[in-house]
Amino acid sequence: MRHLLSTKDLTRDEAVRILDLAEDMAAVQTREVKKLPALRGRTVVNLFFEDSTRTRISFEAAAKRLSADVINFAAKGSSVSKGESLKDTAQTLAAMGADGVVIRHSASGAPQVLAQSDWIDAGVVNAGDGTHEHPTQALLDAFTMRRRLHGAASRGKALDGVKVVIVGDILHSRVARSNLWLLRTLGAEVTFVAPATLVPVGVGSWPVEVEFDLDAALARIRPDVLMMLRIQSERMNAAFFPSAREYAREWGLDDERLVALGPDSMVMHPGPMNRGLEISAGAADSPQSTVLEQVANGVSIRMAVLYLLLSGEREALS
Ligand code: NCD
Repeated sequence: MRHLLSTKDLTRDEAVRILDLAEDMAAVQTREVKKLPALRGRTVVNLFFEDSTRTRISFEAAAKRLSADVINFAAKGSSVSKGESLKDTAQTLAAMGADGVVIRHSASGAPQVLAQSDWIDAGVVNAGDGTHEHPTQALLDAFTMRRRLHGAASRGKALDGVKVVIVGDILHSRVARSNLWLLRTLGAEVTFVAPATLVPVGVGSWPVEVEFDLDAALARIRPDVLMMLRIQSERMNAAFFPSAREYAREWGLDDERLVALGPDSMVMHPGPMNRGLEISAGAADSPQSTVLEQVANGVSIRMAVLYLLLSGEREALS
């Protein structure tokens, strides 16, 4: 494995190996000195063409905890806003000696283009491309589920039989797609719940059940994990539902639904949250909520991925 572009490409063994390695990385972060020398002398470039706070900071923290040098490149304020192409940007980074490139781009497939090009000879990590994939988010979500379910006995385990319901803006969500492929590979059962207007065309050929009524789905499935997605207003060029109030009433996780869900189900959200729209403040801050664990686990997962791609142990994954 030279790049991490999608979760679709990962085998079960590879995925479990990344989760296990992330356990080791998490252990490092409980030490007083949270740093490993593994990537000393390597350079990781964070190439962000789209807004992001937590993902960019998470990759930066991960690279630094592995002792890599980090260059942050945000498209705003760079030559990209002067019309520089991905190719020119990549060649500039290559000339600076980048060993790894973490790329977020609004165009689905941009990381793949970079990885397959001969513009740069670096490991490429997809940090979210358009509505396509966001593999490290899915890995950190799986890691969070595994830890809540198995605690200290997580190592080596997958997510067989775990019932996951993913609710909301599936149409625009790379998080939903990456999660679906990875969760299926790890043996979980996945259901999407959304208004019909926010379900992607072609979902019928995906290994997922689709429901439109949230209360009915929750009562029938009694999920172990309920994952709420952000309404991605920035990707919407039309009215996909009548009003925010209507959306919150039909598809939001409010306090009443949280009670009905019971204390043993996990509530997840990749962030950033629209509190009061897809999730109530009460649900977001409840003991069932893993929102902050997801953020913390993100650093461990990204350390594991960067380590596997850049430490010279690439063959270990393949
Ligand atoms: C997600 C993303 O950017 O795809 N957020 C994230 O990585 N922190 C989900 C989202 O934006 O809704």
